[in-house]
Amino acid sequence: MEFTAVACNLLTKKTDCLVITLGTQVTDDAPAKSSALEAIDNATSGLISRLLKSGDLKQEPNSSVLINEPQGLSADRLLILGTGSKPLNEQSFVALAKNIAAQLTKLPIKTACISLAGLEVDLRDGHWQAQQLASQVAQSGYLFNPFKNKEKKPTTLKQVTLALPSRKGLDKSKTHLNLGNAIANGVNLSRELGDLPGNICTPSYLANQAKKIAKKHPKLSCKVLDEKQMKALGMGSLLSVTAGTVQPAKLIVLEYNCGNKSDKPVVLVGKGVTFDSGGISLKPGAAMDEMKYDMCGAASVLGTFAALTDADLPINVVGIIPAVENMPSGKATKPGDIVKSMSGQTIEILNTDAEGRLILCDALTYAGRYKPKAIVDIATLTGACVMALGSHATGMLSNNDELAASLDTAGQISADRVWRLPLWNEYDKQLKSNFADMANIGGRQAGTITAACFLGRFTKDYHWAHLDIAGTAWNSGANKGATGRPVSLLVQFLVEQL
Ligand code: BES
Ligand code: MN
Ligand code: ZN
Repeated sequence: MEFTAVACNLLTKKTDCLVITLGTQVTDDAPAKSSALEAIDNATSGLISRLLKSGDLKQEPNSSVLINEPQGLSADRLLILGTGSKPLNEQSFVALAKNIAAQLTKLPIKTACISLAGLEVDLRDGHWQAQQLASQVAQSGYLFNPFKNKEKKPTTLKQVTLALPSRKGLDKSKTHLNLGNAIANGVNLSRELGDLPGNICTPSYLANQAKKIAKKHPKLSCKVLDEKQMKALGMGSLLSVTAGTVQPAKLIVLEYNCGNKSDKPVVLVGKGVTFDSGGISLKPGAAMDEMKYDMCGAASVLGTFAALTDADLPINVVGIIPAVENMPSGKATKPGDIVKSMSGQTIEILNTDAEGRLILCDALTYAGRYKPKAIVDIATLTGACVMALGSHATGMLSNNDELAASLDTAGQISADRVWRLPLWNEYDKQLKSNFADMANIGGRQAGTITAACFLGRFTKDYHWAHLDIAGTAWNSGANKGATGRPVSLLVQFLVEQL
């Protein structure tokens, strides 16, 4: 999809579909307030006023009317949406943008022109609206059907124009539209990798995808470490997880150097368990298929790099993805086994299903070689996080208040929110082992926090944040599918570093 911004007259704009909103200043008894809306109402001999009066169109979110061949306009179609008369917040604007996107991508149209005149969003300007709009429209073009013989048809929408009242801020709007589009492409890549089944999306497949992304930008490079190289580095914890499978484990490293040479990089570490059966501590059968999504942390890192390179952002970022499959077998790691991590710390594995932290800890130690400005890991780490926060917020735990605050802000701006949980020492004590430096589980209580405390033992020297996306990375039920979260959050966080 292509996005652009123009200053144009809505009445004479030739497009397959013109989209306008009632705007937040409009109330039910005072229909036409914004000048754009008033102009269209006049040109169509009071069409909008009549629709409001008859009740076909309501000044409330989710109300909308589509008119074909509107008299008095040059557009082939006119889509009008209610917005409610209160200023919107980030979440309600995104809901509106999703509604516009869903309708446009279903119509048999190639072009659309959208005016957001009269829309107010608390704390956010028109450029923010442009970025979110592009992101939502491009995301709604996502289609996953490589395995259905009866294919769904992709959207025909190719060209989306944002209509501005004047040339003021035109170039900046275009930049934001393009960034929104780049983010959406990253989100959609992340969703596709998540939705692919475990028999296709293996650690080797992820490694090949990373190499493919790296080919697209001269300042992005990719290297893939095999098990022999990981063994030489002393990654005994990571390797213990791959012991039971025939799929070779990979450590994928992406280096994007588009910033100043002297700037320390942000390192993103993504959990890449391409299928989590639980290992010898086998999971129950119900919904076990969803453990193909246990690589969504890795997918979000790859999606973020796709977006970064697409938008050509001038920063330094490193991505590290430990990719493994967690399976039971005669060679698999057993409860009670003790392993030595790359950091030298030993771990008693009391539950082979707490495998995410076992691969992440070695990847986090490896991250140290980049002398990072900050490390952010992203992982579908605990079922407990789904219980605590559901599917609305990603769990965040951090050893640095400033880093936590900037992730929180990025979450609000991107409408891809996080909620912080504490990382107190009292919780860390739950990891005590009688036989090794630590156990890999911390008992029934506060599972998300003790998992983060475990990781915290490997990141003491750095500013570090952990994002538990177990509840946000995919939807279950009838609409089962990956969400691409938290790519939007991560790209926004990196943009804020500039
Ligand atoms: N990948 C799972 C976490 C998970 C479970 C995410 C369900 C989303 C939905 C992780 O590897 C895991 O199995 N965690 C265990 C940890 C426990 C053994 C301490 C869990 O959450 O039950
Ligand atoms: Mn597990
Ligand atoms: Zn897992």
